[in-house]
Amino acid sequence: MPNTDISTDNYTFLQQHVYRESGIVLDDSKQYLLEARLTPIARREGVNTVNDLCNLLRAVARDDLRREVVEAMTTNETLFFRDLTPFDALKSTVLPALKERRATTRTLSVWSAAASTGQEAYSILMYLLESGFADWNIRLLGTDLSEQVLARAREGRYMQVEVGRGLPAPMLIKYFDRVGLEWQVKEELRKRIRFEQFDLRRPMVGKGPFDLIFCRNVLIYFDLETKERILTSMYRVLAPDGYLTLGAAESMLQMNTQFERTPIGKAAFYTKPGNAR
Ligand SMILES: C[S@@+](CC[C@H](N)C(=O)[O-])C[C@H]1O[C@@H](n2cnc3c(N)ncnc32)[C@H](O)[C@@H]1O
Repeated sequence: MPNTDISTDNYTFLQQHVYRESGIVLDDSKQYLLEARLTPIARREGVNTVNDLCNLLRAVARDDLRREVVEAMTTNETLFFRDLTPFDALKSTVLPALKERRATTRTLSVWSAAASTGQEAYSILMYLLESGFADWNIRLLGTDLSEQVLARAREGRYMQVEVGRGLPAPMLIKYFDRVGLEWQVKEELRKRIRFEQFDLRRPMVGKGPFDLIFCRNVLIYFDLETKERILTSMYRVLAPDGYLTLGAAESMLQMNTQFERTPIGKAAFYTKPGNAR
């Protein structure tokens, strides 16, 4: 049996590689995770262990392999209407407020900023359609670092178990087509969302202004400096009277940002000072 433990040198090499390419901080307890996610890539490349894979990464200039290693270390867990409370807040307060504020342009710009396989963006879109925005000009952008998850998001095709998590049955019937054993978001919805690759640490030039930003369950993977940098950029691309929300386990506590925390129901939204809701 080959020794499969990742050597200290290789562990540091992988931590640095993933941090440099994504901002994701892998602490010293992620040995098992690295083994589990990188061993299949090593095997496919014809080597036995993650140590061998590191040697390969050092020896050959393979951008595809480097990217694949980073993508393998992202956590893409998501579901329709995740945590529900921000969606309740959309329905009760945020969407009615935006409807009033944008009544003349009838245009709404929304960003799902770590979209993963698309469930969040499609959930927002379904709520928009249910809330009387169907004939508005909706600009819905979904971005993620990983091309693999974006390909799935664009396809909008989900297994029974995925639509079984969080998606109300009437919405499944109304907005999805059955395709074999799977369900696909109807084309008229799919074409209303643009999914594109974007690293949140990059300058957000040309993005926004957004009326609504969902940036959920991604900041937890970053260090404080990276989080602050991303939030500072998001502040700039949020409309003066727009709304941002983070994941249930995320907050801006102890962070240096200009956002004001605006609780709506059980959810926390962030707005710019003076943006009375
Ligand atoms: C756990 S998912 C969150 C999905 C969705 N927002 C939700 O809350 O259900 C986190 C996503 O962040 C993406 N991600 C990680 N680092 C990123 C970065 N630097 N820029 C953009 N996306 C990133 C991952 O690829 C992953 O799909």
